[in-house]
Amino acid sequence: MNIKRPEAGNYESFYREFDSPPMRQFRRDAYGEDIGQHSWVDANELRADIPRLGLSSSSRLLDLGCGPCGPLTFILANVGCHGVGLEQSPAALRIGRERAASLGIEALLSVQVADLNEPLPFEPHSFDAAISIDVILHLRDRQQFFREVASMLRPGGRFLATDAGVLTGDVSNEELRRRSVHGFTQFAAAGRNEQLLEAAGLRVIEIENRTTSALRNASGRLAALQAHPVQPGKQQEYLETVIELSRRGAMSRFMYLAEAREPCTT
Ligand SMILES: C[S@@+](CC[C@H](N)C(=O)[O-])C[C@H]1O[C@@H](n2cnc3c(N)ncnc32)[C@H](O)[C@@H]1O
Repeated sequence: MNIKRPEAGNYESFYREFDSPPMRQFRRDAYGEDIGQHSWVDANELRADIPRLGLSSSSRLLDLGCGPCGPLTFILANVGCHGVGLEQSPAALRIGRERAASLGIEALLSVQVADLNEPLPFEPHSFDAAISIDVILHLRDRQQFFREVASMLRPGGRFLATDAGVLTGDVSNEELRRRSVHGFTQFAAAGRNEQLLEAAGLRVIEIENRTTSALRNASGRLAALQAHPVQPGKQQEYLETVIELSRRGAMSRFMYLAEAREPCTT
């Protein structure tokens, strides 16, 4: 049988150096607290989100597009539950395992290389909760992805996702190009994610506009980049574009909290 290995993706070369001393310093300067994230989430936002997931120490949490497992290990260390991270970049998962070991929680973390554009590699209802932080704009069919997530959750299980690519105003083709430096990127119209979550069997229970966190953390990353030029390439132009689009309210970051519906018995 010909098993297709997922592409490592555009983040791979960047993740190889992710935990070097200059990169750690970069994240401390950019976010205030380095939790090993590579997204728009910061420690305070994540702390406030943990209760939304309804986890206990016996729960199983799935992180879809976990990157180097920063947010995932942060939650596991706080809750003491077990977590599974799926990600296309092997370099990110290696860093994630090292992070878990350094926190003394390696027994709580499992990771697997996977392409989220494909069916998820687990039995139905295997998880109590799932997260996907700033990932869905990279996926080709988010309707199919949300269906997969719904099938992975036990009835009543929570799914918390953020999307920093929601179109809430006018955006030029030049801005779209500068905002899409991390490979395949699809920007959703406002209202689209909640419609697709509901259609996938996930009842939306909370939506929050978190554009201010994208603006704050993009500004922090831009200032840190100017102090320590650790990230080569088009990062400056990318961060300036995120800042401009956020300020104008043209592109927004939203958090969606949804719950897997009970199966229909009639
Ligand atoms: C902005 S990063 C967020 C990482 C992590 N969630 C965090 O908050 O630190 C987006 C991640 O999605 C992953 N990704 C993008 N497309 C993917 C796919 N088709 N399958 C698996 N992972 C994917 C990238 O490799 C990257 O690590």
